[in-house]
Amino acid sequence: MDSFTAYVKSSIGKKQIVASTGLLLILFVIGHLAGNLLIYLGPEAFNAYAQKLKHLRPGLYIVEFGLLAVFVIHMWLTAVLVIENYSARPVGYAVNKPVGERSWAARLMPYTGTVILAFVVWHLIDFTFIDNEGPRSILADGKSYELYGVVYNSFSDPVHGLLYVVAMMALGFHLSHGIQSFIQTFGFNHPRYTAAVRKLSNGLGFFIAAAFSSIPVFILLQTS
Ligand code: HEM
Repeated sequence: MDSFTAYVKSSIGKKQIVASTGLLLILFVIGHLAGNLLIYLGPEAFNAYAQKLKHLRPGLYIVEFGLLAVFVIHMWLTAVLVIENYSARPVGYAVNKPVGERSWAARLMPYTGTVILAFVVWHLIDFTFIDNEGPRSILADGKSYELYGVVYNSFSDPVHGLLYVVAMMALGFHLSHGIQSFIQTFGFNHPRYTAAVRKLSNGLGFFIAAAFSSIPVFILLQTS
C-alpha cells in the first residue's frame, strides 16, 4: 500500500481530508454570499456580476468540476467515518463524548448535512439550470431582469422564501460545528482557546445563515 492510500485509509487522514474539503466549501460559501449580497445594489450590479462569471467560462467549468469533486469527497469520507465509528465502537468508547456533552449542532450534523445536499440539488435546478431571460425573469413591468428577475420572482413566493430560510438555518448549524471541528482536527484545541473557538464558529455560522436569509426576507417584505 503506498503512503497516500495508507493516509486516506487512516482515521486521521480521512478526518483531515473532510476538514480540508469542508474549509474549501466554506470559502466557496463566503464568496458566493458576497456575490449574492450585490442584489441589494439592484439589477445592474447583480446581473453584471453574473455576466462576469459567465465570461470566465470555459475556465469556470474546471472550478465547478473541482467544487463538485470536493463536495462529493467531503460527503463520502464523512459517511465512511460515521460507519467506521459506529461499527468499531464498544459500549462507552472513551473518545466519543456522552450525548449530554455534545452540542445540538454536533448531534444534528448528519441531518443538517442531508438538508444542505437536498438544498444544493434544488438550488441548482432553481437558479443555475434555468433560462435567465425566460418567463421567470420577467417582473411586474413586463421586462426581463435576467438572473435578478429569476431570484426576485422566486422569493416573492413565501413558501419558496421560507424553504430557503430553513435550508440556511441548517447551513448555519452545520458550519457552527464544522468550523470548530476543523480547528480541532488540525490540532488547535488547547483548552485555553476552547471558548473563543466555540464563539468564533457559532458567530460565523450565525452570520452566514443570517446574511443569506436576509435576501429572501428582504424580497418578501418588498413584495408583500
Ligand atoms: C439566499 C441565498 C442564495 C441565493 C440568492 C443564491 C443565488 C444563486 C444564483 C443566482 C446562482 C446562479 C449563478 C449563475 O448561474 O451565474 C447560484 C448558484 C449556486 N449556488 Fe447559490 N444562492 C444562495 C445560497 C446558496 C448556498 C447556501 C449554497 C451552498 C450551500 C449555494 C450554492 C450554489 C452553487 C453550488 C451554485 C452553482 C455555482 C456555479 O454554477 O458556478 N447557494 N446561487
